Amino acid sequence: MAKADFVRVMFNDIAHKYDLLNDILSVGTHRLWKRKFIKFALRQNPKTALDCATGTGDIAFKLKASCPGQVVGIDFSPGMIDHALERAKANPLPVEFKVADIQKLPFSDKAFDVTTISFGIRNVENLELGLRELGRVSNGVFVLEFGQPKNRFFKSLYFGLLRLYVPIFGLISKRKDAYEYLIASSEAFPSAETFVEIMRRNMTFKTFGHVPVFGGIAYIYYAHN
Ligand SMILES: C[S@@+](CC[C@H](N)C(=O)[O-])C[C@H]1O[C@@H](n2cnc3c(N)ncnc32)[C@H](O)[C@@H]1O
Repeated sequence: MAKADFVRVMFNDIAHKYDLLNDILSVGTHRLWKRKFIKFALRQNPKTALDCATGTGDIAFKLKASCPGQVVGIDFSPGMIDHALERAKANPLPVEFKVADIQKLPFSDKAFDVTTISFGIRNVENLELGLRELGRVSNGVFVLEFGQPKNRFFKSLYFGLLRLYVPIFGLISKRKDAYEYLIASSEAFPSAETFVEIMRRNMTFKTFGHVPVFGGIAYIYYAHN
């Protein structure tokens, strides 16, 4: 099975438990990381925003609270988008959600002030194509993704704890392969300067950078003019 098909089916299967799993796995800290991430994206004073790999829409709803114009969330898992649409019904501000693939975004060049992607980019089959698309449709790209802590002791401790703790994810989601994928994809994903370099190769912006979150367990990346 191609990586994209595996990822789409897996997220469809766990969509109804995704928010709960996120809170359990991160002990709620994903909310703090996302808040910090949003603050970065809002430095560009965006009026419009596209949140890619939006899942159940966490980032899109938060962006809409500060963006007066169009805010759209896309995800290639229809199950995740169904949950985002349910949440949108209860949200006081309008956020649009669509099923779409990051590798072929259905938007014109520079249609949005910013694009964001939180814990999604490491899942994209063709990473470089995905990054080119994020840069094509906007004037600034913000990425939040798991990384590898630089401190070797902290890194071993973190991945050791992850291996002990994350099987709970498999039990609750009833997809053992989902937690195996989570650890393997996080360990393998290029982080910090390496990822910035890949962004640089695939985007035409002038300013690139990265900021560690929680000792490098995650990173915020940015690219804009
Ligand atoms: C870990 S979830 C992140 C959801 C949300 N952004 C968050 O931070 O809670 C990863 C999401 O990426 C989506 N995804 C992976 N590859 C994608 C692609 N090529 N196009 C669109 N969505 C994709 C999955 O369907 C899944 O909903």
